Amino acid sequence: MVKIGIAGGSGYGGIELLHTLLRHPTADIRWISAQQHVGKRVAELYPNLRGFTDLVFSPMETLPANDLDVIFLALPHGHAQKVAPGLPPGLLVIDLSGDFRIADPAVFERFYGFPMAGAEVQKEFVYGLPEINRERIRTARRISNPGCFATATILALYPLFQEQVVRGPVFVDAKTGSSGAGNSPAAGTHHPRRANSLFPYKPFAHQHLPEILQVLGKTDNHLVFQTYSAPFVRGIFSSHYMELTERLTADQIRCVFSKYYGSEPFIRWVADKPDVNYIRHSNYVDIGAVVDETYLIVWSALDNLQKGAAGQAVQNMNLALGIEETTALTLPPVHP
Ligand SMILES: NC(=O)c1ccc[n+]([C@@H]2O[C@H](COP(=O)([O-])OP(=O)(O)OC[C@H]3O[C@@H](n4cnc5c(N)ncnc54)[C@H](OP(=O)(O)O)[C@@H]3O)[C@@H](O)[C@H]2O)c1
Repeated sequence: MVKIGIAGGSGYGGIELLHTLLRHPTADIRWISAQQHVGKRVAELYPNLRGFTDLVFSPMETLPANDLDVIFLALPHGHAQKVAPGLPPGLLVIDLSGDFRIADPAVFERFYGFPMAGAEVQKEFVYGLPEINRERIRTARRISNPGCFATATILALYPLFQEQVVRGPVFVDAKTGSSGAGNSPAAGTHHPRRANSLFPYKPFAHQHLPEILQVLGKTDNHLVFQTYSAPFVRGIFSSHYMELTERLTADQIRCVFSKYYGSEPFIRWVADKPDVNYIRHSNYVDIGAVVDETYLIVWSALDNLQKGAAGQAVQNMNLALGIEETTALTLPPVHP
């Protein structure tokens, strides 16, 4: 059995980790933490888990690092940088925050608004996107889980940039559901504000932009990236508009994606258009495209808490521990 701890387990990313790991045959969840919910039973805060777990939220200070094989850090940005440097080298650390995704400290500070603590520690972290970094993840002991928007956009663009078929910048229009903002109520996530509405936020400044550019090997002028708050709870829907270097047919576009993702267990090429309704509660990413002369639109849809966070983190754990990669992750999307 794999002994697992979840730091920040009372948050949306943390509870999704627990929910996913409860159906993992070799997961032994030993410890789960909270800050304001310390002492509460998990099922008290999340009654959907009544009868599935007796775990109680512990304070961070009780983290039993030497008695665990894996620690997931599902803490707000800035916290993993303080925790990770003191953890045993042999412990598998998977961080869901943005703390270790960005290599350049100046870029990190510009987008996150505070200095990167421990640039040296950042170098130990492998970017945990299996479709691109699978072999490095297999041997990693420090994994930085990608952002939800970043996963959607990188997967939509990577094959096209690899094949060098894009001319000029790509315009990205990416929408998220309210669970992307975590479990703390805020003005921007309040129901009367979010329901029946759609509004942009962080123009030219979303913190996932630099990790997308870093992974794709591009600079600011290659991507215009705009995020929106959408009136659903779970899901990322991302649209990518671009000009091609030459005329390509719909079938040629399909072949480009098939070359890179044809054997990927969690990427589904959809002949029609993706829809957030058809990926919810799953680790699957639906990608589709439409081409008109030399203009191409690629859409990607994923669940922000699964492939955008906890599902991808468990996929990374499986890879790093030599467990079958898809373990606990093959439940079909839930609809309606
Ligand atoms: N939500 C998503 O869709 C998503 C997707 C990808 C990545 N992420 C990243 O995953 C991380 C967690 O996100 P989330 O949405 O799960 O956030 P969240 O719902 O706000 O949960 C944060 C967790 O951290 C705990 N916490 C807060 N302040 C703390 C402190 N000072 N010391 C110790 N623990 C503290 C909270 O405990 P209490 O509940 O007791 O306050 C809670 O367990 C973030 O870095 C986020 O960017 C989130």
